[in-house]
Amino acid sequence: MPKLKIAPSILASDFGRLAEEIEGVVEAGADWIHVDVMDGHFAPNITIGPPVVAALRRYCNVLMDVHLMITDPDAYVEDFANAGADLITFHVEAARHPHRLITKIKQLGCQAGLVLNPGTSHDEIEFLVDAIDMVLLMTVNPGFGGQQFIPEMLPKIRHVRDMLGDRDLEVDGGIDQTTAPLVVEAGANVLVAGSYIYGSDSYLEAIESLKAAGRD
Ligand code: DX5
Ligand code: ZN
Repeated sequence: MPKLKIAPSILASDFGRLAEEIEGVVEAGADWIHVDVMDGHFAPNITIGPPVVAALRRYCNVLMDVHLMITDPDAYVEDFANAGADLITFHVEAARHPHRLITKIKQLGCQAGLVLNPGTSHDEIEFLVDAIDMVLLMTVNPGFGGQQFIPEMLPKIRHVRDMLGDRDLEVDGGIDQTTAPLVVEAGANVLVAGSYIYGSDSYLEAIESLKAAGRD
């Protein structure tokens, strides 16, 4: 399995101090920064767009992982690539021509990943999997931080690990000290965590406790 990586989601950080909040988790050992982009249509929440990503890029010296939860990802990937995204993931449920969009993201110089909602089968990516760099499996429904992990996602993680070989398999939603060992055992190696990390008194201890899941 590829190296375990921790990707704090800035959705749970203090939005008034975003730059410091990024630097804080990077100093505490974060491997990636996870940026949740929502448009109020695909997901029932509105978060941040390309200008904010561009501004934060200057304070982020690790991989910037941009998770698009928007209805028309094709129309915006170029803006996010220009803003400095390293990895762009989009929902297979939202894209009209996902294979074409994967190609476009790569042509823009970014890594490309597909995201599956909890209710979407891994079968949806059977014929796309060779084209992508990684997969992100939602372990909650998109929209908000602080939701409960959906345990039915564990068998899906196992299936997708078999499909991906040694590429990255990221999970997002409800990841904490208790659920991290379960998803890692099932085959996930990139752990997104928002409220668990940003809600803790010590970012260092929170990130360390997630990394410990990979050592068991
Ligand atoms: C949910 C977002 C997540 C969210 C995770 O729609 O994609 O990245 O920030 O938050 P926690 O870790 O609090 O479940
Ligand atoms: Zn996310």
